[in-house]
Amino acid sequence: MANISVAELRERVAEQFGETVAVLEDLVRIPSYEAPSAPPEAKQRSAEYVAELLSKVGAQDVQIVQDLKPDSTPGGPGVIGRIPGASPTTVLLYAHHDVQPVADDWSTEPFTPVQKDGRLYGRGAADDGAGVAVHYAALRALGDALGVSVAFFIEGEEEVGSPTFGKLLSKYREQLAADVVVVADSDNWQVDVPGLTTSLRGLAAVTVTVRVLEHAVHSGMFGGPLLSAPLLLARLIATLHDENGDVAVAGLGQLGAATTEYPEDELRAGAGAVPGLQLAGTGSIADRLWFKPAIDVIGFDATSVAESSNTIIPVAKAKLSLRIPPEMDAATAQNLVLTHLTSQPLFGAEVTVERDEIGTGFIADTSSPATQTCAWAQSLAFGNECKLIGQGGSIPLIDSLVEEFPGVEVLIFGVEDPDSRAHSGDESVDLGMIEKCVVAEALFLAKLGGTLQE
Ligand code: BES
Ligand code: MN
Ligand code: MN
Repeated sequence: MANISVAELRERVAEQFGETVAVLEDLVRIPSYEAPSAPPEAKQRSAEYVAELLSKVGAQDVQIVQDLKPDSTPGGPGVIGRIPGASPTTVLLYAHHDVQPVADDWSTEPFTPVQKDGRLYGRGAADDGAGVAVHYAALRALGDALGVSVAFFIEGEEEVGSPTFGKLLSKYREQLAADVVVVADSDNWQVDVPGLTTSLRGLAAVTVTVRVLEHAVHSGMFGGPLLSAPLLLARLIATLHDENGDVAVAGLGQLGAATTEYPEDELRAGAGAVPGLQLAGTGSIADRLWFKPAIDVIGFDATSVAESSNTIIPVAKAKLSLRIPPEMDAATAQNLVLTHLTSQPLFGAEVTVERDEIGTGFIADTSSPATQTCAWAQSLAFGNECKLIGQGGSIPLIDSLVEEFPGVEVLIFGVEDPDSRAHSGDESVDLGMIEKCVVAEALFLAKLGGTLQE
């Protein structure tokens, strides 16, 4: 086992960075998403590509692992492996190689990597190809200066709610058991300010259907005394927020509070808000994003404008997505929304609500030694102090990790930046920042493994 200095580590990461970008580009080329339109075998190809990457950095017993979902269909293929080290500490490196499908508008082909102004564009360039590439590049830079033992879990079904993650964890618990987990699947604070995520919201979804008629009817003959299903569904959805834009579901409010200030102009710029748009809700922006619930419509079924006719539409359906404060129980929150939706008068229309997926939030123990070391490594790599931040997004599988390995220290590491546009069109990542993320992870591992020369 060799020692390595900070300067040497930086040099190696820089020398190898061309290859790191090539890996990220390869990952973008594989359309590893799940949807009815998904290319068959893409996830398998992507798992095979990841397995090769792990072998290249010296991982042993690399395996593509898969299990059955509750409905007996196969879950997404994950990749596991191990690199034995000299120190007694084992670090589990987590990322996911599956990506979101493409629905939005793109300026370039989503599965063709394109570099522009120091950014790499393409589906999965950020979420979570960046996580995979950073783990790979950090280990490659360390080479024989890796002191810790490393285990890998590169998941293939995170974007569909990790349906078999818990099963895989317990089935392969010997190969995966660790003292520390690095989840490389979150945001940094700024391109040049690293972020360590200390809280994530939970999530829950419901699908609500409103029916008013047994069949469609002429809107002139019947319009007036009869209101259509989309219109009543819109009224029902409108009851979910009060006049300020705060969630108005009884029992569903803020839990916990942020200590960080989230600048309003950054939120507006990151989201591409139209000029003059008023922000919804009350309280600080960080609280609204990280510690308050959010409800929105993520899908709406009714007659499309293109197919519209002078008809009263009998039935309409919406999928509602709910974000939950980190420490609130997701099933309880889902029930509160269900009760709210079914107890509105709504002119006596038939309202049915189905429960969809739920996921647990997360709150970190910021005093843990690994957190301190990680923040130190990120600060050194970026040349700016690491920010401990919350996130409004969710990574529910963390709950399974903590359940399977009680006492494990979980670090949620930033590999994206505020302009990454994960899940939407023109997803991208800042390559200069990715290089710093690689240095940060390598420094962290070397420090933990006792191989860093100071
Ligand atoms: N990487 C994200 C989670 C995330 C987003 C963390 C933003 C930090 C900041 C992850 O891939 C994701 O998209 N999670 C889903 C939940 C999952 C159950 C489908 C989410 O948040 O919608
Ligand atoms: Mn992700
Ligand atoms: Mn995602």
